[in-house]
Amino acid sequence: MRVGIIGGGLMGREAASAFGRWFVLQDSPVQAELTAVCDLQESLVDWFRQIPTVKLLTRDHAELLRSPDVDVVYVAVPHNLHERLYLDGLAAGKDLLAEKPFGIDLAAARSIAAACAESGRFVRCSSEFPFLPGAQRAIQRAQSGKLGRLLEVRSGFWHSSDLDPDKPVNWKRQNRSCGEIGVMGDLGMHTVHIPFRLGWKPTRVYAQLQKIYTERPDGKGGRAPCDTWDNAMLHTEAVVDGQEVPVRYEMKRLAPGETNTWFFEALGTEGGVRFSTKEPKTLWVFERGKEQVWQRYDLGHQTAFPTITGGIFEAGFPDCFLQMWAAYAAERAGALGTRFGCVRIEEAVQSHELFAAALESHRSKKAVALA
Ligand SMILES: NC(=O)c1ccc[n+]([C@@H]2O[C@H](COP(=O)([O-])OP(=O)(O)OC[C@H]3O[C@@H](n4cnc5c(N)ncnc54)[C@H](O)[C@@H]3O)[C@@H](O)[C@H]2O)c1
Repeated sequence: MRVGIIGGGLMGREAASAFGRWFVLQDSPVQAELTAVCDLQESLVDWFRQIPTVKLLTRDHAELLRSPDVDVVYVAVPHNLHERLYLDGLAAGKDLLAEKPFGIDLAAARSIAAACAESGRFVRCSSEFPFLPGAQRAIQRAQSGKLGRLLEVRSGFWHSSDLDPDKPVNWKRQNRSCGEIGVMGDLGMHTVHIPFRLGWKPTRVYAQLQKIYTERPDGKGGRAPCDTWDNAMLHTEAVVDGQEVPVRYEMKRLAPGETNTWFFEALGTEGGVRFSTKEPKTLWVFERGKEQVWQRYDLGHQTAFPTITGGIFEAGFPDCFLQMWAAYAAERAGALGTRFGCVRIEEAVQSHELFAAALESHRSKKAVALA
């Protein structure tokens, strides 16, 4: 699988790191290498020169898309550019790992989905945290039937650096480049991936959205508007086994003390499971017995795609990002088997349906039904 990266910023370089250590995967059905990179910034393009497999460095994404040495494009650019660049990639006959939120809004997501269907290319969307060992174990527990009747679910992603009012504005803080959905577009896909895959899709949403700092330093001595939603709490219902179950999605840029905390929790009448990156080695499991006991499992490096890393060692962000790419490559090759896969096109569109309904709910101060 020969990959081209369009957008060599924070995530483009993270992806390069995954391909750079692909050899740590044991028995991967696919070999992957980074062959081409496109970014507008010369300094970033230069950074990629140290990678020996990269044959093409360019500032023009059309040139990258013409390359016969690229099978798959990973597009990690601001949200206002998703639709155009994804469509260009598909039209050029490339497969795609799209960065979230899969278009700046619902209309863009639907247009991308239509282009995917027409092109027949293999397309998935990025969301890596479910590939952490603790998250994988939580998913297995939720699927095991050991929770009994589902009582409630919480899925969230919290950041805290925006608590600093002097943090300069960037494209993720402005509607025109991040999208009107704001923090939901930034963090939301990470929260819906597991519940959606488990079939716990929202039928109704009541949203609480907050804008906290409405302007920030522009980084050039002045001030700039910061008009995106900062924090979002989506109170939804899903129908599970014929019963309505509360599923709460939390996306926050201002969550005191939470640098990058992703969590998933499902509670039922017979059992429960809880995992958070705050305690990356810990899986909490509840089993109803004579007494009420939460058991704490100490985790190692058991990943869906085994690696050479010792089983007792800790897994972190670069590990789950590599696992996500391994899942993408395996599924593209028809070799995913029963393993957990990347976000599907229809799930990405459904996430946008949820976020659009959340905007409507916040406007009307009412719960909004979803199809
Ligand atoms: N999966 C995750 O955990 C995660 C984390 C952060 C961001 N993201 C997503 O990744 C995407 C990029 O975010 P980022 O944090 O890497 O942003 P970034 O600002 O660090 O990088 C974006 C890069 O795109 C480049 N770019 C802009 N227009 C371009 C064009 N026309 N052609 C080529 N390059 C162009 C910019 O020069 C920049 O280097 C977004 O969709 C964001 O939501 C995902």
